[in-house]
Amino acid sequence: MSNEYPPDDIDLLSSPVTLPNGVVIPNRLAKAAMEEGLKGGLPGRRHRRLYRRWGRGGWGVVLTGNVQVDAAQPATPHDLRIHDSPHTVPLFHELHESLLADAPDPRPLTLVQLSHAGMQSSATYSLTRAPWVPSIGPISGRPSVGTGFVAWAIERALWPVAARAVTNPAEWCEIAGKFVDAATAVEDAGWSGVQLHSAHGYLLAEYLSPLTNPHPRPLPGVPERVPVRLHLLWLILTGIHTATERTFVKALKINCSDFVAGGLDEDASAEIIREIVRWRLVDLLEVSGGTYGNPAFAEMGREALFAHFTRALLPTLPPAPEGPAIMLTGGLHDRSLIARCIRSRAADLVGIGRPAALQPELPVKVLLNRALGKGKARVPPYIIPGSEFYRRLLGGGKSRPHSKARNGFRETNGVVARRDEGNGIKLVGAGVSTVWHEWQMARIGRGENPDPTLDFLRGALANTLWHDILGGGPRGWYRHWMGTD
Ligand SMILES: Cc1cc2nc3c(=O)[nH]c(=O)nc-3n(C[C@H](O)[C@H](O)[C@H](O)COP(=O)(O)O)c2cc1C
Repeated sequence: MSNEYPPDDIDLLSSPVTLPNGVVIPNRLAKAAMEEGLKGGLPGRRHRRLYRRWGRGGWGVVLTGNVQVDAAQPATPHDLRIHDSPHTVPLFHELHESLLADAPDPRPLTLVQLSHAGMQSSATYSLTRAPWVPSIGPISGRPSVGTGFVAWAIERALWPVAARAVTNPAEWCEIAGKFVDAATAVEDAGWSGVQLHSAHGYLLAEYLSPLTNPHPRPLPGVPERVPVRLHLLWLILTGIHTATERTFVKALKINCSDFVAGGLDEDASAEIIREIVRWRLVDLLEVSGGTYGNPAFAEMGREALFAHFTRALLPTLPPAPEGPAIMLTGGLHDRSLIARCIRSRAADLVGIGRPAALQPELPVKVLLNRALGKGKARVPPYIIPGSEFYRRLLGGGKSRPHSKARNGFRETNGVVARRDEGNGIKLVGAGVSTVWHEWQMARIGRGENPDPTLDFLRGALANTLWHDILGGGPRGWYRHWMGTD
């Protein structure tokens, strides 16, 4: 297979991929979905600033952070949401215009990630509903974040009441309808397509998991040949297919494994993916892994997180454009590693998350930059300055050094390489990393530059306290009042 690809790594990464619906992705680098850490709701000026920077970056695909189809059930207070409001389409349209304002030709594929947080939606964290109003899921219960008292306390704090089980098929159809309506709003706003977030333990992933959906029941209108566990996805995908143009891209993010006992495992996931590919309704399929209980997708210091899975899976699927293009995300931050992944058919393109918060123009400045030789065209592993204390304080355990830096830590730009593989509550380690990267995106949204040396405590004070809670002080209030924030 490898001789089909250009021998030069930059030529390979710059080569296009054609999707089953005929749409062409201009290169192999996708800015993965990242919840932006800005004010939740409809996109505003700060989102537009942030997306304009990504637009300049030379990405082949730009995905939004998760955009919630149910405004009352988000994953975080910062999530963008599809509101039943006349402002939804115009504001998503403005965001799209900003994203493309300075984008080099050929322009990136632009995808909105549609999500429903399911059982993981926390009323006390997202503050979009009263604490006694439950999240929803295929079963009643609370997400588990680990064992021991601290985990027990975190679970009760995040989910004071257990999730409500949705048992009525009509309610599932209504949820499917929300995804379809959201997709048509996204199409009206001018985006290239949507990605359904069916990974990381959110509602669509919960529906697929034997742990959270042990006895799936058939939903009306789905043909018998479709496995019952896939009924919800089938309804949503066929609904979007019918309601939108053929060139509107339908992408799906799915776990190769939930990495929790009793959850979706690699064999079941491979079978599900092969079935979905047979439907010919998906143009782009992204592979990730993990849930809040074990956020494998957020692990730091490990490379090509799920390549072993996709390398075994891809030969069993029709190659793009006969089948969907396969996007692999997680720990792919090095030009030659990405090229090796594509040449070994572990992926057609790669998604890049965290580094895109620190370097919004990563493709043009680093990965596709011919001035940077092999060893330099990469984002070295790093840890978050000053985060260790808070990580341990909150029960996240101790992080261990990155295997390549066993004899001490490798210093790069004031950032230190470590392997983020502690022995405590994994959600805490992932949470610390996630909020710090959100602060970087929030800085860009305010018109500042990302700061890789940002100390965790300083970041918490500046972002969460000063900007989020106090609105940026008198200057922030004035700018907000003048509409220039
Ligand atoms: C700040 C932050 C926010 C994220 N938000 C989302 C999200 O909204 N949707 C999603 O599918 N994944 C989300 N992720 C996961 C990323 O898409 C990606 O899977 C993960 O960061 C691994 O890729 P990386 O090693 O290149 O960072 C988020 C990650 C970070 C760091």
